Amino acid sequence: MIAVIGGSGLTQFAGLELDDRRRVRTPYGEPSAALSFGRVSGRPVVFLARHGDEHDIPPHQVNYRANLWALSECAPSGVVAVAAVGGIRRDLRPGDLLIPHQIIDYTWGRESSYHVWPERAVAHVDFTEPYDAALRRRLCQAAAAIGVPVGDSAVYAATQGPRLETAAEIDRLERDGADVVGMTGMPEAVLARELALPYAAVNVVANYAAGRGEAVGEALDMEAIQAVLRESMPSVRAILLELLANDD
Ligand code: HPA
Repeated sequence: MIAVIGGSGLTQFAGLELDDRRRVRTPYGEPSAALSFGRVSGRPVVFLARHGDEHDIPPHQVNYRANLWALSECAPSGVVAVAAVGGIRRDLRPGDLLIPHQIIDYTWGRESSYHVWPERAVAHVDFTEPYDAALRRRLCQAAAAIGVPVGDSAVYAATQGPRLETAAEIDRLERDGADVVGMTGMPEAVLARELALPYAAVNVVANYAAGRGEAVGEALDMEAIQAVLRESMPSVRAILLELLANDD
């Protein structure tokens, strides 16, 4: 079974034949929403809305530990995270889809490990490759099979939010080597790694990052961002359906 974490623009998984909704408690508190168990193309899937069913939990207050813990208890074969991003790299346009391969973490003050002393001893998980290579490949193959263009790599910069970045911050992220910027990729990815869950992401470019694109110097338009996400989600959903259709 695959677990899907839906981000902005994907608080519900259209096409999911819902069997059950379950509120789960974890040692770390409650996840963002009840887990939705169902079937897509006959294959079992569990879905969780990262920001809650009403999309009201901001990125820095998402209980990532509870979310990943709850999903891990379902013993999924992999976790696919859908996340909106700003495009930093010059060729990226709103609506582009990417399967990131690397992360730079700029978040702070988030509960970012299950290894909290004294309950649990120190542990240093390997995070050289933060995303699962096989799951990334399957996502790329699913997209190719249905003719949806996706970038097969990207360096994801995780910022703290909830505010968007300054133009100078985006310039810095670019110098650091980041292609896209979002607020939720960490600690989600590392918690999945600590739980030994294969984890990969589909990034949806919702906007040009601050100071990028045609509207340089202009404020980012939240309604335009929502519109891009609305238009892009059918493609994301189609990739997920194709991935699930081939899930064993
Ligand atoms: N910055 C950070 N997170 C985001 C952005 C952005 O421009 N767009 C969507 N998520």
